[in-house]
Amino acid sequence: MARLWHKGEDTDSLVLEFCVGDDNQLDERLVDYDIRASLAHATMLNEQGWLSDSDLAAVVRGYDDVGASHARGEWQISIDEEDVHTALENRLVASIGEAGARVHLGRSRNDQVLAALRLYLLDVVTHLAQLAEMTVEELKALASRHAKMPIPGYTHLQKAMPSSVTDWAGGFAAEIADDACGLRLALRRVDLNPLGSAAGYGVPELHLDRSRTCEILGFSAVQEPVTAVQLSRGKAEANVVFELTLLMQDLGRLAADLCLFNSAEFGFVSLPKQFTTGSSIMPQKRNPDVFELVRGRSSQLAGDLTSILALTSKMTSGYHRDLQLIKVPLFRALDSTTLTLAIMNRTLPKVRFVPEVLQKSMSGELDAASLAFKLVRDEGVSFREAYRRVAGELS
Ligand code: ARG
Repeated sequence: MARLWHKGEDTDSLVLEFCVGDDNQLDERLVDYDIRASLAHATMLNEQGWLSDSDLAAVVRGYDDVGASHARGEWQISIDEEDVHTALENRLVASIGEAGARVHLGRSRNDQVLAALRLYLLDVVTHLAQLAEMTVEELKALASRHAKMPIPGYTHLQKAMPSSVTDWAGGFAAEIADDACGLRLALRRVDLNPLGSAAGYGVPELHLDRSRTCEILGFSAVQEPVTAVQLSRGKAEANVVFELTLLMQDLGRLAADLCLFNSAEFGFVSLPKQFTTGSSIMPQKRNPDVFELVRGRSSQLAGDLTSILALTSKMTSGYHRDLQLIKVPLFRALDSTTLTLAIMNRTLPKVRFVPEVLQKSMSGELDAASLAFKLVRDEGVSFREAYRRVAGELS
């Protein structure tokens, strides 16, 4: 099927393939969102007198059919079609004819892709925040399952002060709750209507009603002026991925603790057999690969964030095709975090701390600071003096 910009000349097949890259596959997840934005645009065109009632009815019916057949797996975006916008317009025209060809009035794929991406991000980021909040609940449940169980607190991986499993889990729960909050706040830059900015410079001759598409799509404001829209591409994405990176770092550090605590030398934590993996050579092994991969994935997010920031830095204003490449690290970061939260929510309920081992690990040196505090309280000596006395007794 034809590309939207086809003017009768041939395009070199390798050039086309290179320019599309993974975009046809990546755009699969934007189909429903591009349809929603297109329906809002068509409704606005109708209200402004650019699309007749019967054409609008046909467009609504056409998008319904095309969306449903995509959901049934009857078509996919081909390299020839480049992207979701072309695939949908071609199918709409094939399904309803002339009326389908009227929908692109006053828009460009430059504002279209941003509308679809933002609607998608609003959904997926909200879902991710909910998954993170489920992790918080799992950590709180773990804390109460192990109520009052002591655990050494470590600094520099050396025994420091007495702590509790409740506080260990509670610390992660509090931080992950804060990450979920940060994620929701990152939607501020996402929640703006780009439609009507078209290629990046608006369409003054058509008098499009940008606030109407804003209202239909539920964005909190129209992004103004039109020239800000393309400048902002990548910023909402970077903001979301930055918050995801912080969340993943907390999950990675939680996972790192669990790997350490599960080692034979620590033995603080036992994992059910079905959560461990084996070795091809050492029959005895039960490895915590799942938590090592959580830790590993958490490092990849920083790479995705850097990749998004690097793509837009120093780019001149207006749309450039480089912007398309943002989808690769963006979707990777979103998918990886979704998967990681799902695995944490599956495994955390089965993590067990072993009370006998924890009890044995609560050795005397953990109380050193507390002994010094008692000397201050009971004998009125300075803290420095109490510190020296306890240090002397320990050596
Ligand atoms: N796939 C493109 C992107 O993500 C859609 C916009 C294409 N616009 C253009 N002028 N070639 O950026």
